[in-house]
Amino acid sequence: MMELTLLFFRACLALLAMPIYLLSFLGLWKPFCRKIFFPYFMETVFEICNNNVKKHKQELFRNLPDFTGPSGELKLLEIGTGCGTNFQFYPPGCKVTCSDANPNFQQGLSRSMSKNQHIHYERFLTAAGEDLHQVPSGSMDAVVGTWVLCSVQSASKTLKEVQRVLRPGGVFYFLEHVAANPSSWKLFWQQVFYPTWKLMFDGCCLTRETWKDLEKANFSELKLQHCIMPLYWAPIKPHIIGYAVK
Ligand SMILES: C[S@@+](CC[C@H](N)C(=O)[O-])C[C@H]1O[C@@H](n2cnc3c(N)ncnc32)[C@H](O)[C@@H]1O
Repeated sequence: MMELTLLFFRACLALLAMPIYLLSFLGLWKPFCRKIFFPYFMETVFEICNNNVKKHKQELFRNLPDFTGPSGELKLLEIGTGCGTNFQFYPPGCKVTCSDANPNFQQGLSRSMSKNQHIHYERFLTAAGEDLHQVPSGSMDAVVGTWVLCSVQSASKTLKEVQRVLRPGGVFYFLEHVAANPSSWKLFWQQVFYPTWKLMFDGCCLTRETWKDLEKANFSELKLQHCIMPLYWAPIKPHIIGYAVK
């Protein structure tokens, strides 16, 4: 009965989003989404989400300077940088390498860079988190990924790459929306939204149990907190936030 109800609501949502499904069928949605819709969405609606969680991000990155490398520099790689909303949280002088699978965020990135001139921008890579071969092994003191593991094709492969590029004692900071509690109505609605959401928001999966990937990833220390962020968008709740040390 529950399965049928789920299918019914999914079909209703698909009907509402019919133009997008149609464009997708014609092979037109993905290029439009990646070049125009998603970058615009990130700079407008998603910017509001980022503002709502600003205090949590500030708190998350508070101990970032503690991971400064032996050379006295803090070398940081961000995966899924998007429009660069995290630049404001990095300490002065931090050497940042940005990477994203989608190269179409130049406008938002330029805006964030001009607002955040306290850090050094080293490189901008078009790279999926699962394949960071352009970044040498053990070369980073810190890796940051916020709201990214929901969209990568493989969270476990991405975490393997994160570990490879980190030096021993380096840190990975994360903030992710995850699957709600089993048997909850929240999870039911996440499952209803799942296919349409994934199509609309460039692969974003609502029901990932990302904390399990982090627990399996063999970091030497894992500080992970389950929490509810002050966001109005019910499907992207709850969250996990924290950091893992290699
Ligand atoms: C929801 S946005 C988050 C952006 C930013 N990290 C933030 O907190 O505002 C997700 C980002 O992950 C990127 N992304 C999606 N799949 C990816 C992948 N496989 N590897 C790296 N980045 C990816 C998207 O292009 C997008 O910039």
